[in-house]
Amino acid sequence: MSSDTRDANTVLMNVEALRKNFTFEGETIPVLQGLDLTIYRGDMCSIVGQSGVGKSTLMHILGALDRPSSGRILFNGDDVFSRPDAELAQFRNRSMGFVFQFHHLLPELSAAENVALPRMIAREPKPHAVERAKALLEAVGLSHRLKHRPGELSGGEQQRVAIARALAMEPALVLADEPTGNLDQRTSDEIHELLVQINEERNIAFVIVTHNQALAEMMDRRLVMRDGVVYEGGP
Ligand SMILES: Nc1ncnc2c1ncn2[C@@H]1O[C@H](COP(=O)(O)OP(=O)(O)OP(=O)(O)O)[C@@H](O)[C@H]1O
Ligand SMILES: [Mg+2]
Repeated sequence: MSSDTRDANTVLMNVEALRKNFTFEGETIPVLQGLDLTIYRGDMCSIVGQSGVGKSTLMHILGALDRPSSGRILFNGDDVFSRPDAELAQFRNRSMGFVFQFHHLLPELSAAENVALPRMIAREPKPHAVERAKALLEAVGLSHRLKHRPGELSGGEQQRVAIARALAMEPALVLADEPTGNLDQRTSDEIHELLVQINEERNIAFVIVTHNQALAEMMDRRLVMRDGVVYEGGP
């Protein structure tokens, strides 16, 4: 979505004064240090920053996989971390998709079953969940690999399955942490184009952590993380 179509009515996520400290061998490590960020519906954002600056820590908290030390996140106006852990897991499954550097697919399940899993966890009957999964695998160019297990797919194909799985619940937001960090240049380029296409066709917001300059440049918004906060980067 282009930046001029954004306005206050389309805010998806408000991140307010987020702090995260880790304690390691008695020492406190401040990683997120009062971070503010607004994500809009259909946003396409990259986050770049030096190794160890806290990008993955931020993604885990945006995705409600971990709680902040302080600060809050509003998602569609709701305070995410006011929920108890059990509800947080349900919220996560319903509202967000994740794509990681390593795909985290289940090795015993076929591509179609892996993509169907979030809907089955949400108690949708398997045949219906698998039908939806097939449509998504078609959308990511994998209709010819439905029954393959992850070990029988190439790295790029595995990542396409992971992307299809991230879309399974029709989330408003997909978080991707170095989604092509493990792939060769050409395969990375194809995956980047796929992500941009999905963003444009489905109006799903993406936040993508990347070390890949070419990918960062394809994004509407480029965020830079430094000293525990994020800055809006220039073109
Ligand atoms: N569970 C933990 N306990 C203690 N320290 C941690 C923990 N997780 C992360 N850290 C520290 O927090 C800092 C930020 O880590 P993080 O993984 O978020 O960095 P990153 O920006 O994603 O780096 P990279 O680009 O290498 O993936 C690092 O210094 C790391 O050592
Ligand atoms: Mg990281």
